[in-house]
Parts: sequence; C-alpha cells; structure tokens
Amino acid sequence: MTAWTKKTDTLNTGATIPLIGLGTWQSQAGAVEKAVEDALRAGYRHIDTALAYGNEAEVGAGIRASGVPREEIFITTKLDNTWHKRVPEGIASSLKSLGVDYVDLYLMHWPSSTTEEDLMKHYPDWDFTKTWAEMQKIPKTQAKAIGVSNFAIKNLEILLNAPTTTVVPAANQIELHPMNPSPKLVKYCKEKGIHCTGYSCLGSTNSPLHKNEALLAISEKTGKSSAQVLLKWGLQKGWSVIPKTVTESRVKNNFDQDGWELEDADIAKLDAITQRFKVCGDSWLPVRVFFGDDE
Ligand SMILES: NC(=O)c1ccc[n+]([C@@H]2O[C@H](COP(=O)([O-])OP(=O)(O)OC[C@H]3O[C@@H](n4cnc5c(N)ncnc54)[C@H](OP(=O)(O)O)[C@@H]3O)[C@@H](O)[C@H]2O)c1
Repeated sequence: MTAWTKKTDTLNTGATIPLIGLGTWQSQAGAVEKAVEDALRAGYRHIDTALAYGNEAEVGAGIRASGVPREEIFITTKLDNTWHKRVPEGIASSLKSLGVDYVDLYLMHWPSSTTEEDLMKHYPDWDFTKTWAEMQKIPKTQAKAIGVSNFAIKNLEILLNAPTTTVVPAANQIELHPMNPSPKLVKYCKEKGIHCTGYSCLGSTNSPLHKNEALLAISEKTGKSSAQVLLKWGLQKGWSVIPKTVTESRVKNNFDQDGWELEDADIAKLDAITQRFKVCGDSWLPVRVFFGDDE
C-alpha cells in the first residue's frame, strides 16, 4: 500500500514535490508558527504560504523552530497581484520574510496585474505574460521552480502561446474538492506536464462538504474523518493537497494517510456529487480569471 505521507510527484524541472503540505491562508501570526512547527515534527515536508497571507515571517520562524533541515522541506510562496511589475522585489521580499535563501516553488498567485493604487484596476500596459517573462529570469538560487495559480485553460493557453514564454509552469495551484472538481483543467495540466496542487481541498472555513451525505457515509464506513477522506480523494486522483489548520490534532489527523485507501466505488461516489461550491471567486479582481471551462 502506498505510503502517502512520503509520496512525491516529479515536476517538469526534475525536482520532487511532496503530495501532502500544510496550507497557511488565514492562519494568524501567533498560531501559524506553531502549526508549521507541529506539521514538520509530524512529518510534513511541504509548506504553502504567500506574500498576500502576511505570515511569511511566522512561517519561516516555525520552520526554524521545527529543527528540520531546510533542504528536507519543500516551500511554496507566491507573487502578489500588485507586485507583477516588481518580480525581483517580490521574490526578494518573500525570501527575506521567510528567512531562507531559496523557495522550492514560486507561484504567480493570480493572473491579474492589479495596480497598487486601486485594487479593482488592472495595469493598462501589463499582463500576466509579461509577469511570467520576468519570473522566468528569477535565478534558480532563489526559486528552484516557477509556476502559476488560479490559471484556467483559457489563460494557460494564452501563457503557453505567448512568444516570450520559454518555461512551462511547473505547477498550477487551483481550487480542487468534490464540489469544484475541474476535471478538464486537471486533464489539460496533466497533458502539458503541469503538476496540480489542490487548494481549499477541505472546502475552507465553514465548508459545506463536511455535511455531504455521500462523504459522511464513506467517512463512517472507513472510520476516517471527512477531512481525511477529502484529502485521500485528491491524493488518489493524483494531485498534491495542502490542508490548512492551526489545530494540532487536525495537523496530525490530516497527515494520517498511510495504510488505507478509498475504494474505486467510493471515489466514484465523491465524483458523482453534483452540488457546486467555490471558495475563491474572481469578483474582487479587476479581470475575470474563471471562465467555466474547467469541467
Ligand atoms: N492559490 C490560491 O489562490 C489559494 C487560495 C486558497 C487557499 N490556498 C492555499 O490552500 C490552503 C488550504 O485552503 P484553505 O485554507 O482555503 O482551506 P482548507 O484547507 O480547505 O480548510 C481549512 C479549514 O478547515 C479546517 N480543518 C482543517 N483540518 C480539519 C479537520 N481535520 N477536520 C475539520 N476541519 C478541519 C480548518 O480549521 P482550523 O484551522 O481552525 O483547524 C479551516 O477552518 C490555504 O491555507 C492556502 O495555503 C491557495
């Protein structure tokens, strides 16, 4: 049986990404340091953060407190929307806050080059292809791999077909759970050699997923929590998962993935959920990023 907690996927750079990571969005400064430390002590080797989360310094402190050597940890952080014209400053800021020399994966957080003055305005002379051209210049000593997040098929096509694009993103971090499964987008990424990481894989705060009858029945049958089942659904479908928690018992529960698997019939039942729910929309952005082309 697969040792899911040790399992990795190989990125198009040749580097490996651990399939289970700790998410840190909405993790408050005081709590996130301990959560990161707890996670690394429990065996996690992948931590996801972002400049926009405002907690990179505490994430870095948690990494150092864990005592786990830097080279054993896969760290992902992200370029904020208002920093698209300042990529070298963006990566330098994240490295400084995290207190590390390099990150393993640096993502463009959203395909939206938002002005600093007005968060509902897009730079008229800039777009994500220019941002990506700048990201391609980041030295490997600062970011071992570069990737994107919240890219639907339409925007991936624009990116991959841009004359300035020489590097295929190593990863696309997207919302993935049974109420937002995005099979077409996942298939598209696989065909292009782009690793998918599923975010809000538990449906985030106040998730309706934990009340779904099909999920609860599988949870009861397997004796696993609904969160564990949701994470295993993503793992068995082939993407990495980055559940967020600042609760020590949940850090452990979410990582308790070895020695059991979902039966194909149970995966099919989760795939058959028709209710749709999205944690992250695009109404707060100056451009549309979701086009409904993911299913
Ligand atoms: N790229 C992007 O645009 C983007 C967008 C959203 C998220 N993300 C990344 O993906 C990560 C995960 O997504 P998310 O933070 O939206 O939400 P999530 O991981 O789907 O869910 C987090 C919520 O579930 C609770 N929880 C965690 N484990 C649980 C368990 N075993 N049982 C019951 N409840 C549990 C957490 O509570 P407690 O913390 O109180 O325990 C929290 O309220 C983020 O933290 C971030 O790193 C990226």
